Amino acid sequence: MKVLTAVSDVRAFRASREGSLGLVPTMGALHAGHLSLVARARRENVNVAASIFVNPAQFGPAEDFAAYPRALDADLGLLASLGVDAVWAPSPGDVYPPGFQTWITVDDVSAPLEGARRPGHFRGVATVVAKLLNVFQPARAYFGQKDAQQVAVIRRMVQDLSIPVDIVVCPTAREKDGLALSSRNAYLGPDERRAAPVLHRALEAARAAFDSGERDAGRLRAILTETLAGEPLVREDYVSVADASTLAELERVEGAALASLAARLGKTRLIDNVVLGGT
Ligand code: PAF
Repeated sequence: MKVLTAVSDVRAFRASREGSLGLVPTMGALHAGHLSLVARARRENVNVAASIFVNPAQFGPAEDFAAYPRALDADLGLLASLGVDAVWAPSPGDVYPPGFQTWITVDDVSAPLEGARRPGHFRGVATVVAKLLNVFQPARAYFGQKDAQQVAVIRRMVQDLSIPVDIVVCPTAREKDGLALSSRNAYLGPDERRAAPVLHRALEAARAAFDSGERDAGRLRAILTETLAGEPLVREDYVSVADASTLAELERVEGAALASLAARLGKTRLIDNVVLGGT
């Protein structure tokens, strides 16, 4: 497995390989969710590459960029064991060289939910993902459903800019008690960890109501809020039942909807979602 830093080395790797390339973009601190993306990319492509880059541009000034978990050696071992051909692990200067001033903004779909609470976050995500896609030129790029708004932003960008790549979205990997896997789960203290599955329980309660015929989105949002409120260590940040591709809040669920939420446990902020209806 090649471990690369300079853009020119990634381009040389790509030029040296025939056949399809699957790319798994990550910020490292890999868990079973990332590994399921890699395993799927391995099944579907002749070549597989991953990137490990804690992207400063997608963290706000008060966010956890400095504290974000980093585990490069362990990550490289895991990726090698899954048969990854190349990993790009650049420094910020490789991605954002001096004079860098070009940014991608995906307007409406970036605006609500995470975008409203994390100004500039999706500008940083869209820009780095566009750069990754340009540098690697993969046939397919793999993302987790857990970051549903990120997926909607990237899909919109790829469509709007006619970037020739298939965006493949893989199911959220979960602990046995339902907690969605996230590198940020490492921040949870023992009591917070015990409380955290309430995020998934809230979404499952909304799904159960939907499956029993509830189509009033306000009622579904209330179920999310009420379930979260049952856990004293958890503070709701937002709950949402929105159109699955535009992320506009719904009054009634007619087609595919995304039920999503964010909540704080102490200093840790977690997100989760489920898709209701659609195909
Ligand atoms: O989902 C992530 O880990 C990041 O947002 C991504 C897509 C690697 C861009 O930095």
